[in-house]
Amino acid sequence: ATDGTTDYYEITQREADLRILPGLTTRAWTYGGTFPGPTLRSRSGRRTVVRHRNALSEPTVVHLHGGHTPAEHDGYPTDLVAPGGAPRDYAYPMDQRAATLWYHDHRMGRTGSSVWRGLAGFHLVTDDEEAALPLPRGRRDLPLMITDRSFAADGSFQYPAAPEGGATGAYMNGVLGDVVLVNGAPWPVLAADPARYRLRLLNASNARRYRLELDPPPPGGGALVQIGSDGGLLSRPLAHDALEIAPGERFDVVVDFSRYRPGTSVRLVNRLDSGPAGEVMRFDVTGTDRTDDSAVPARLAAGGGEPDPRDAVATRTFLFRQGTDGQWTVNDLAYQPGRALARPALGKVEIWRFVTDFHHPVHVHLNAFRVLSRNTGGPGAYDQGWKDTVDVRPSEAVEIVTRFTDHAGTFLLHCHNLEHEDMAMMADFVTA
Ligand code: C2O
Ligand code: CU
Ligand code: CU
Repeated sequence: ATDGTTDYYEITQREADLRILPGLTTRAWTYGGTFPGPTLRSRSGRRTVVRHRNALSEPTVVHLHGGHTPAEHDGYPTDLVAPGGAPRDYAYPMDQRAATLWYHDHRMGRTGSSVWRGLAGFHLVTDDEEAALPLPRGRRDLPLMITDRSFAADGSFQYPAAPEGGATGAYMNGVLGDVVLVNGAPWPVLAADPARYRLRLLNASNARRYRLELDPPPPGGGALVQIGSDGGLLSRPLAHDALEIAPGERFDVVVDFSRYRPGTSVRLVNRLDSGPAGEVMRFDVTGTDRTDDSAVPARLAAGGGEPDPRDAVATRTFLFRQGTDGQWTVNDLAYQPGRALARPALGKVEIWRFVTDFHHPVHVHLNAFRVLSRNTGGPGAYDQGWKDTVDVRPSEAVEIVTRFTDHAGTFLLHCHNLEHEDMAMMADFVTA
C-alpha cells in the first residue's frame, strides 16, 4: 500500500515448507512464506514502513542492512519482535542513495541460526539519478542472493548446535554449507538472452566467501562489469574477471551475454572451492530476444559527499580477534549490550582502523564508508565506492573513513561472519 509520503509493506514471519531439493520438503523460517523473503522496493526520500508480525515460536529482530535508519528501527539485538503476532512497525526514512539493501534477522546470539533457516530478503532502493541511467531493467535486473546450506537426509536444514566452551569446530570458521543456493534454489539455470543483464550479487551466506567468475570467460575478459557496491552506484564502471565477495557484501554488476556464441552454457563459479561449493549457477545463452537498448554509461553516479580523511577529528582502532576463552571479541571485549566502544559525533569525519587475527568481514551500521587503505597500500580491487561491509583478511589492517549523520543513538559494529557475531564479535557505538 502507499499514501502521499509513505510506502507500506506487511510481512508475517512464519514457518513454511519449501521445495528446495528434489522430492523433499524443507521446513524454513520465512518472511511471508518464501525464501528469500519478498523483495521490497523503496524510492529514495520516500518513507517506507514495514509491519512485521512474528508467527514463529521464538522472538526475532529485523535489521535493514545498509539502511540509514534511526536507532529505534535499526534492529538492535535485544529489541525483539515477540512471537504471538502483535504487529511491530519498522519505519525507514530511506533518506539515502539508490542501493541494494537486504533485511535479515539480528537477534542476540541467534542471528546465524535464524538467517540459516531462511530469515533474509532483498530491499532495493532506487532514486532519480539511477532511474535516468540506461541500465538493464525489468526481467534483466536480477537480485541474486547467494547462500550455502547443508541439508539432513530428510531435506531439513542442518545447522550445528553451538559448542560448549567457545568458538571451536564449526564455529571457528563459521558455519559452512555444502550446497550453494541462489535465491533459495540449488545451482539454478537461467535461460539468458544474448543481451546485458544487471546482477545484484549479495553474499547472504553465514560464513562462506566466494571468488566469483564466469566460466568460460567472454572473449577479451572483463566479464563482470561492476557498477555498484554496498552503498550504491560507483562513479564509473569497473571491469573485473573475478569478484571476491564476503558475507554481507553486495556487488552490482552488468554481464553482457551477447559476448557469447548463442547456445553457450556460462557457469558462475566460486574459485575458492573446487567441490560442490564451487558451483553457483548457470546461464544458458539460449534466449532469442536480442533487443537490448541498455548500456553501461562511462559516468554512473555524480558522486559528492565523500568524507575527506584530512578532516578526521578522531582515529579509532578496533581489534577483531579471538579471546582466550574462545569467544570472538572486539578490542578484547565480548559483546555486551549497552557498552559503547566509541562515541562518534554526528557530522564529523573519523578514520576507523580494523585490525584482525583471522578473516573477518567487518560491518558498520548507520552510514556507508569509504575504504582508505589495506596495510600500507591503497584500497583493494573490490573496495571501490560506498561500502558498509569490508572484508579484513588475516593479520590485515584496513582503514576506512566515515561520517555518521542524522540519527543519534546506539548502533552496531560487528563481524558479519554470523557465527562470530553470535559468539560476541560485536560492539555498540553511540552517536550524538
Ligand atoms: Cu547485515 Cu548488523 O547486519
Ligand atoms: Cu547492517
Ligand atoms: Cu569474524
